[in-house]
Amino acid sequence: MSSLSSSVMLFVLMFMTILMAASAENFYQDCEISFGGERVAIMDGGELLTLSLDNYSGSGFQSKNDYLFGRFDMHIQLVPNNSAGVVTTYYLSSQGPNHDEIDFEFLGNVSGQPYIIHTNIYTQGQGNREQQFYPWFDPTAAFHKYTVIWNTQRIIFMVDGTPIRVFNNNEAIGVPFPNSQAMTVYSSIWNADSWATEGGRVKTNWTYAPFIAAYNKFELSACVYSSGSSSCGSSTSTDSITSTEAWQTQALDSVDQEKLMKVQDDCMVYNYCTDYARFPQGLPPECNQPRFQQ
Ligand SMILES: *[C@@H]1O[C@H](CO)[C@@H](O)[C@H](O)[C@H]1NC(C)=O
Ligand SMILES: *[C@@H]1O[C@H](CO)[C@@H](O)[C@H](O)[C@H]1NC(C)=O
Ligand SMILES: *[C@@H]1O[C@H](CO)[C@@H](O)[C@H](O)[C@H]1NC(C)=O
Ligand SMILES: *[C@@H]1O[C@H](CO)[C@@H](O)[C@H](O)[C@H]1NC(C)=O
Repeated sequence: MSSLSSSVMLFVLMFMTILMAASAENFYQDCEISFGGERVAIMDGGELLTLSLDNYSGSGFQSKNDYLFGRFDMHIQLVPNNSAGVVTTYYLSSQGPNHDEIDFEFLGNVSGQPYIIHTNIYTQGQGNREQQFYPWFDPTAAFHKYTVIWNTQRIIFMVDGTPIRVFNNNEAIGVPFPNSQAMTVYSSIWNADSWATEGGRVKTNWTYAPFIAAYNKFELSACVYSSGSSSCGSSTSTDSITSTEAWQTQALDSVDQEKLMKVQDDCMVYNYCTDYARFPQGLPPECNQPRFQQ
């Protein structure tokens, strides 16, 4: 571990016990528009946000705060009907060429055909760790909860509380892990019809524009990072945090492992760890670990 990341870790540990009670995340107060101007609409006193894509522009928003570790829950209702070519995102990212990133991207489809839940992880500027899943529900019919848990030991992706992917801290075998760069939370909608649907074969049909995705219940329990130090709190709890929050040590217990295996067996569309053709020099090192240690 570099001395920078060690000192960052020290700060995190020092500030873990800071008391901080906040109200629920409010899109007016806690987020800002990143692009698309009036295509971002905030309603219901800040509890509901919609992003819209038309043939001129997409749109996006981001958290005002930066975070170093946390649990991040977002409820999203994806674009209904014909959403081919349209990508909706919910991700965390730091800045710069060696940035870290934890991605959920939702790849649209023509009416009646399944979305793809696309996930990826960048560490030190390098990605190429895609895993994709078909949702086992209609993600356009209602809001569903998409969760990123990011602690010092692992990153867990969850959908409606079901873990679909885990990326462990494998620094011991030379795989960089995001643990020193604070990340901002982002969401966006944009036209990605060069690649998103059936590999780019199906294009966006602008007759169906504007394409609208809705967000609510942005709930987090996370460590806010500012001016070199970090303080941890929860947006959903009205109690002060006096002990370790569950996410800080969260791992997959045997029930979670069963659930993850079932989703990966039944719903996985693509896994970089089995794409031998793509990595002729050998799979990335984490792929050679046992399934729950990858
Ligand atoms: C965008 O769509 C509108 C409404 O269908 C149309 O009038 C306009 O010409 C389109 N603009 C472009 C740049 O395609
Ligand atoms: C979806 O398409 C159907 C048929 O075209 C239409 O009746 C319905 O209103 C559309 N739903 C939404 C949410 O746009
Ligand atoms: C869209 O539907 C086609 C046909 O069912 C499927 O092959 C594809 O994986 C679906 N999703 C995306 C994002 O292309
Ligand atoms: C776009 O959708 C409209 C309405 O369903 C349809 O008439 C048209 O053929 C579609 N365009 C393309 C390029 O598929």
